[in-house]
Amino acid sequence: MNRLVKIDVSADVIPVERLRPAIRVDDICKSFGEKLILDRITFEVAKGEFVVLLGPSGCGKSTLFRCLTRLIEPDSGRIVIDDTDVTTLRPRELVRFRRQIGFVFQQFNLVKRLTAIDNVLAARLATASLWRVLLRRFNFEDRQLALACLDNVGLLEQAYQRAERLSGGQQQRVAFARALAQQGDVVLADEPISSLDPESAENLLQIMQHSAKEHGITVLCSLHQVDLAVRYADRIVALKAGRVFFNGRPSEFSRDVRDRLYVS
Ligand SMILES: Nc1ncnc2c1ncn2[C@@H]1O[C@H](COP(=O)(O)OP(=O)(O)OP(=O)(O)O)[C@@H](O)[C@H]1O
Ligand SMILES: [Mg+2]
Repeated sequence: MNRLVKIDVSADVIPVERLRPAIRVDDICKSFGEKLILDRITFEVAKGEFVVLLGPSGCGKSTLFRCLTRLIEPDSGRIVIDDTDVTTLRPRELVRFRRQIGFVFQQFNLVKRLTAIDNVLAARLATASLWRVLLRRFNFEDRQLALACLDNVGLLEQAYQRAERLSGGQQQRVAFARALAQQGDVVLADEPISSLDPESAENLLQIMQHSAKEHGITVLCSLHQVDLAVRYADRIVALKAGRVFFNGRPSEFSRDVRDRLYVS
């Protein structure tokens, strides 16, 4: 993807760009009925950072993901993504804004009968005219971009395979390639490895880690696998009982913290 700036992670000086938060979650509250699910959640994700969100089932990870792009309206607080105050966007602006965020879900959400490249090109629908979409006549640049994204996830050779012929791991990599093709530099992944075998799961995490490190993509990803979070994340944010329970480096996520996070 030639538009992406390559970041030299071995350099002593961290590029200034990288220090700016790409995602700011500021004092977010969300209740369902009487039940307070998110209670003043505050944290940031820096540009090019790979942050893993942990927490027991039902602690509000998916709710937070939905609040980030206002698929669910937070009750209060502020969300800023890539310098856009998401919380104040009007409906039409919000629709436009969502198109630049890459989403990856547990169920890959691919169109099974379409090829891998057509699934990735679906990310470009927002910028292509209707007749191009209907005739699937994407322009040369869009196709090049889609191929580059598939190459990034190691699936160039499978570009013209139908999604239904790909393994679960490969399908999820197509979903990640589609997220990259959004070109918004922020990817939100809610339990992307839950339905993958261990090898495919690690493979996807490696790709996410690489995308953050080498291409400056900001990734916020929820997981249930603590060991993998510790191994791959730049930072871990853990939620418990509606609050941020832990926010720090994987090396600080001790056995004691882990035990207390998952004990009710
Ligand atoms: N639309 C909704 N209406 C009412 N309650 C909801 C709604 N969505 C989520 N909840 C409740 O909010 C709480 C948090 O749910 P959420 O799906 O965010 O948890 P989670 O951390 O993603 O869990 P898991 O790890 O199992 O995916 C749960 O108690 C759930 O029942
Ligand atoms: Mg969830």
